[in-house]
Amino acid sequence: MAEGQPVRGFSAPRLIERKRDGVELAPGEIEAFLSRFLTGEVPDYQMAAMLMAVFFRGLSPNELERWTLALVQSGERWDFRRVTGPKVGKHSTGGVGDKVTLVLAPLVAAVGLKMPKVSGRGLGHTGGTLDKLASIPGFRTDLDRAAVERLLNDVGYALAGQSDSFVPLDRDLYALRDVTGTVESLPLVAASVMSKKIAEGLDAVVLDVKTGAGALLSDPERAEALARAMLGLAGRFGLRAEALMTRMDEPLGRAVGNALEVREAIETLAGRGPADVLEVAMALGSSLLVQTGAAPDDDAARARLRWVLEDGSALERFRLSVAGQGGDPAVVDDPGRLPRAPASAEARAPRAGRVRGLDAREVGRLVVALGGGRLRKTDAIDPSVGVVLEQKVGDEVETGGRLATVHAATPEAALGAAQRLAELYDIGPEPLKRPPLVLKRITG
Ligand code: URA
Repeated sequence: MAEGQPVRGFSAPRLIERKRDGVELAPGEIEAFLSRFLTGEVPDYQMAAMLMAVFFRGLSPNELERWTLALVQSGERWDFRRVTGPKVGKHSTGGVGDKVTLVLAPLVAAVGLKMPKVSGRGLGHTGGTLDKLASIPGFRTDLDRAAVERLLNDVGYALAGQSDSFVPLDRDLYALRDVTGTVESLPLVAASVMSKKIAEGLDAVVLDVKTGAGALLSDPERAEALARAMLGLAGRFGLRAEALMTRMDEPLGRAVGNALEVREAIETLAGRGPADVLEVAMALGSSLLVQTGAAPDDDAARARLRWVLEDGSALERFRLSVAGQGGDPAVVDDPGRLPRAPASAEARAPRAGRVRGLDAREVGRLVVALGGGRLRKTDAIDPSVGVVLEQKVGDEVETGGRLATVHAATPEAALGAAQRLAELYDIGPEPLKRPPLVLKRITG
């Protein structure tokens, strides 16, 4: 970074120019720019320009720490010392079909950990837990600290959105990044994720750092650098943390789309879900149990998690959570109560062979285009749309065989998306050798 003198007085254009030109911003400059954005003094268009400058220029370690601190300090920091049990957190850097939070939170709550979880809405081509939860009739995520504490005591976990009192700056930046081509930035992702984990008041956190075509940072080296940057921030803020790097080249599970993913999460908790979703949830859960001393090692941790899955207590926690957050708990036994799209169409295989690839990013974009994500900040989400993948990488298909079902608002949209989805399938004669789902464990 070039050396530069901090500017006197406040000039948003001057700070944008300095960042654009590669000058390291002084702590007070970052603080001033971000706090003025929160009050509306710095408008969206100047913030968007700053985000793009950061996208290209990055942030130095000091800038990153200051940026993260400004996010944390934009709201309150939670303290759940009065709640018994270890307070744990989880965050994913964003994936397609990633409904792991909905499975993991009830699993770890059922073994006695407490998870006060603040989630985001969809970002770019990736889905967001908040949007998924919004598809459950009545489910409320506008929780204040007291409501989160009550849920931690009664249910064992709480799923909240950001609010005016909890990291509101990240909520506003997140919404702007989503529609300005500034999502895939290592420091912006790191600060966004870690600000929420730092403010949640946790004893330990596990980070699910996605890598592969559908990840925000698809290149494995950049994804690992992101993991290390987040662990570095955890260290600077005194938070125990571990990162798992997991593959996100094809979508996780079979369902992509908000209500469809909630249904799949319920099926997973009922023991009928896709193996990959459960595998990621178990690996993350095990990390939390071991980090907090709730289990001595990975084998013991997995055995405890398997127990609460098989005896139905994790699913029971999910039901309690839906009821506790104002939702209709009957969706657990009857997922047909979730929103359903009026039209559907099938994607069919153009040739016989093995599925060799299915680009998760393109599948995510397709679901956004169906209305499952946003193109503008204010866009409403259609919770019912999405895709269910019948065939995934490694599966054998016949010519004309069903690959996937698209759920859409109109028959035309369903048909168009089904044709596009069929093109996204890479079908060839030979199967691919696939690396494991959990690629690496990095300890802070
Ligand atoms: N999750 C977040 O909370 N923020 C990001 O920037 C990406 C994923």
